[in-house]
Amino acid sequence: MRYIEASSTGPLRGTVHIPGAKNSSLALLAAACLADDIVSLEGIPRIEDVRIVEGIGRDIGMELRREDERIVIDPRFIHSAAIDPGKASSYRASYYFAGALLAKFGSVTIGFPGGDDFVARPIDQHIKAFRALGAEVRLASDHYVVEAAELKGADIYFDTVTSGATINAMLAASRARGRTRLRNAALDPEVVDTAHFLNRLGARIYGAGTECIRIEGVPYLNGGSHTVIPDRLIAGAFLMAAGLRGGQVTVQNIIPEHLGSCLAKLEEIGMHVECGDGRITASGTGMLKATRVRAGMYPGFATDLQQPMTSLLLLAGGKSIVTDRVFPKRFAHVPQLRRLGADIEIRRESAFIRGGLPLKGDWVHATDVRAGTSLLLAGLAAEGRTRITGVEHLERGYEDVVASFRAIGAQVAMREMDERELGERLPLQG
Ligand code: EPU
Repeated sequence: MRYIEASSTGPLRGTVHIPGAKNSSLALLAAACLADDIVSLEGIPRIEDVRIVEGIGRDIGMELRREDERIVIDPRFIHSAAIDPGKASSYRASYYFAGALLAKFGSVTIGFPGGDDFVARPIDQHIKAFRALGAEVRLASDHYVVEAAELKGADIYFDTVTSGATINAMLAASRARGRTRLRNAALDPEVVDTAHFLNRLGARIYGAGTECIRIEGVPYLNGGSHTVIPDRLIAGAFLMAAGLRGGQVTVQNIIPEHLGSCLAKLEEIGMHVECGDGRITASGTGMLKATRVRAGMYPGFATDLQQPMTSLLLLAGGKSIVTDRVFPKRFAHVPQLRRLGADIEIRRESAFIRGGLPLKGDWVHATDVRAGTSLLLAGLAAEGRTRITGVEHLERGYEDVVASFRAIGAQVAMREMDERELGERLPLQG
């Protein structure tokens, strides 16, 4: 079994080139099914979740080929809208195939979304949108079927702000007959990116990035090319890394506006932030101040950044509170941080942190990509060696997490567990 070993590291310094956004890429690759000609997507990261999507695409007859930083997709020969339940359930965003294939073929059979197992994540708003557009949704034990003789535009009010359901409704409505209006829509950059891509293919989507999106359905979509937006969540984690011991990290290939709430918090805790054209530099002074973080939907502080932020706040003297309003139980990293000596308590939807205590390396387990990032940051700040299992979760979001952290001076390495280490690790799992 592989694990990542992180050792106590001094200030991190350097520049990191940020890849295309995972969560946008997963939507864009499924959206490509909607086109009636060849599509080219630039900047799609080489990560595990993308490899799963590529596999699903090939199963249903999409032709996909990598050309350097580009994926060229030919969706003209898709012959099936039945997606292997196992593959669909191995990551979260498989639901985008439901919206896209429903819009193009009128029927799709697909497994329930899986992926990060940090909390129950309902898809009721996706189903509500499909039904409003005229589809019938039938739920079976390991899959669901969505069918419509014809999709018709509708007014859809989301009961909660959700980026996934907003994107999925846009996919389905883009080829529906007539006008759709999405109210209480998510404002996330990934929503806007998907709308831009579809519009490049000839869709007529207006208002993405506001809470009311209007879609005039079109009968077909052309081919075209698009560059995925940079990954704001990976960028945020590297900027936080600069705060660990008073380092300085520049992220380039980034849209600074996408990180507004994160940058404001970093300044609030005593870091210095400077934004340039497509780049941000964050510097720490070695002294961090405790704070209150409330993760919310965009443009609020991202739920995906609350875990690495929790690690940073372990180093800030005083009491911090981190609340997650999006996924109130997304705290699987906390018991692991406690193994490193962190003083954190979970009450309801918040983590109460007493910062400034020394951390000490131990075995810990990553349960999802952001929890893994949190453990990695804490491991770099802890005395001795921290060994992180669950590497596959980090690989779902990072192209090469070890190489990117090493590039800014982190003492981190990928290792294979030997028998002695396995013995050391096993009693600790209980
Ligand atoms: N929600 C519902 N019903 C639904 C859909 C969502 O109640 O039908 C709720 C969720 O439970 C949550 C809120 O709405 O409280 C927002 O969920 P959203 O739909 O926005 O999340 P998602 O689409 O499931 C995506 C990202 C997550 C990211 C959230 C933040 C992908 C593949 N995943 O998930 O990313 O945390 O948006 O909104 O795009 C990650 O990258 O590590 C990750 C987990």
